[in-house]
Amino acid sequence: MPTPAPPRIDLGGRLAALKRARSRIVMITAYDYPAARVVDDAGVDVVLVGDSAATTVLGYQSTREVSLEEMLMLTRAVRRGLTRVPMVGDLPYGSYESSDARAVESASAFVRAGCDAVKLEGAGPTTDRVRSIVRAGIAVVGHVGLAPQQVTTPDGYRARGRDASGAAAIVADAMALENAGCVAIVVEAVPDPVARAIVERVTVPVIGIGAGASTDGQVLVLHDMLGLIAAPRAKFVKVFGDLANAMRDAVSRFADEVRSGEYPGAEHGYPMSDAEQSAFARLLEARR
Ligand code: KIV
Repeated sequence: MPTPAPPRIDLGGRLAALKRARSRIVMITAYDYPAARVVDDAGVDVVLVGDSAATTVLGYQSTREVSLEEMLMLTRAVRRGLTRVPMVGDLPYGSYESSDARAVESASAFVRAGCDAVKLEGAGPTTDRVRSIVRAGIAVVGHVGLAPQQVTTPDGYRARGRDASGAAAIVADAMALENAGCVAIVVEAVPDPVARAIVERVTVPVIGIGAGASTDGQVLVLHDMLGLIAAPRAKFVKVFGDLANAMRDAVSRFADEVRSGEYPGAEHGYPMSDAEQSAFARLLEARR
């Protein structure tokens, strides 16, 4: 099994310090170099190369379709754009479930791609995978509540833990993941009391997405919050920008200007002196 390179940033230490300082943790996804530069510059606390890349940038129907190789390619691109923000890589479906050895191998590949930690969905058997990755010296972020990798039908993307026993199971999952060594836990699509119960029972930071306001931080998918993904969107998504329309407007202005001849203007071209133009004309004439 390849030995993982040491992570660049102590993610657990950094997140714990933010929690101690009662500074709400801001996590966002990124999948490419320009987005990494923007989110780094915007001052977020953590970047997640989420397997949501499957649907947001690769056009798949579900996160179950993205491969480890595709995720690693995106991860390396994000790494090149980050200067100071820690990066978490999402182990995709099929890259960790079968054995502890496979989980460590996949997590190590993310570390070699520049990650400071990896994230795995779910508890149950995933808890053992988490424990072995942690034992290999790699920081792990857990993920409870809605686990999109387990969803196989479109109506499966709904809140979890809305009944007492389901809620208690999610809290138990979070506690098991902390016990297995997770440095933080993402909780997705659960009612606020469930997230609050987790925050009260684990010591590591809890980062919510569709989990109310009681968590230690929030994460959103970049393309959702920038308005790049058409409705219907998950209930918890707040659209902070309208990039789809901004991009459409810019591209249609480009198309209009090309068709009208307005673009390119003289200022977009490379000048050639009159003397060189005359010499060039003579050369062309001589080669006729
Ligand atoms: O893949 C992803 O973007 C995620 C977030 C929704 C937490 O797992």
